[in-house]
Amino acid sequence: MVNERNIPRHVAIIMDGNGRWAERHGVPRSEGHRAGAGAVERAVECARDLGIEYLTLYAFSTENWRRSPQEISALMALLRDFLTTKTDTLMKHNVRLLTIGRTGDLPLGVRKLLLDSVEKTKNNTAGTLTLALSYGGRAEIADAAKKIAKLAAMGKLDPEKVDEKLFSTYLYCPELPDPDLMIRTSGELRISNFMLYELAYAELYVTDVLWPDFGKKEMLAAIEAYSKRERRFGGRKNEEQK
Ligand code: FPP
Repeated sequence: MVNERNIPRHVAIIMDGNGRWAERHGVPRSEGHRAGAGAVERAVECARDLGIEYLTLYAFSTENWRRSPQEISALMALLRDFLTTKTDTLMKHNVRLLTIGRTGDLPLGVRKLLLDSVEKTKNNTAGTLTLALSYGGRAEIADAAKKIAKLAAMGKLDPEKVDEKLFSTYLYCPELPDPDLMIRTSGELRISNFMLYELAYAELYVTDVLWPDFGKKEMLAAIEAYSKRERRFGGRKNEEQK
């Protein structure tokens, strides 16, 4: 059973298995991604219903640029579609949209829609949906290091003051709390360059269910598993992280 006390504040998801779903259904990969976009909608709804404050979805990685131009276009079209048709839904449900990643690498049209949607939803308070787009965990760390190095070179930041906490303020979205639970679909036991800095103490949950088939039942199963874990943050029992 899941009770309110056990609901993780921040759930991050590696949405994997769209391609395998398409193969199993004998349809093109783009159809797998389309079905995956449907699961995105369900996950956002479910997070809202359960009172999960932050939901972060790995929608397009820095490595995904290596896929075929057709597949990249199909994914960008789905993203455009999502931003065009779902911004009003986010408004209706009082959900704010954020993005993490090298979003400057996205096609101009997608970038504009993203900026519009982020701007339009910025004062919403019921929850935060973050889309990781052109995102890589190593790229994020390298980008933060670059910002810090530039400030240090200009004499605006003392290198001696750089610690884990200060470093984290140079990540893409410093206001995001670290994920409490990271879910990966389709059975792969890998982090795949996702939120490497932020996942330090996250609980990991892997399900064999393919992303397009992910829904409320699977989210509840993940949260139930999470609620049974004993989180120690490297300390001893009952010692919580400050
Ligand atoms: C992994 O499946 C999934 C992706 C690379 C992209 C995720 C995109 C979506 C869920 C759809 C669009 C997103 C939004 C936010 C509207 P895969 O292709 O790697 O699957 P496979 O490992 O089975 O081939």
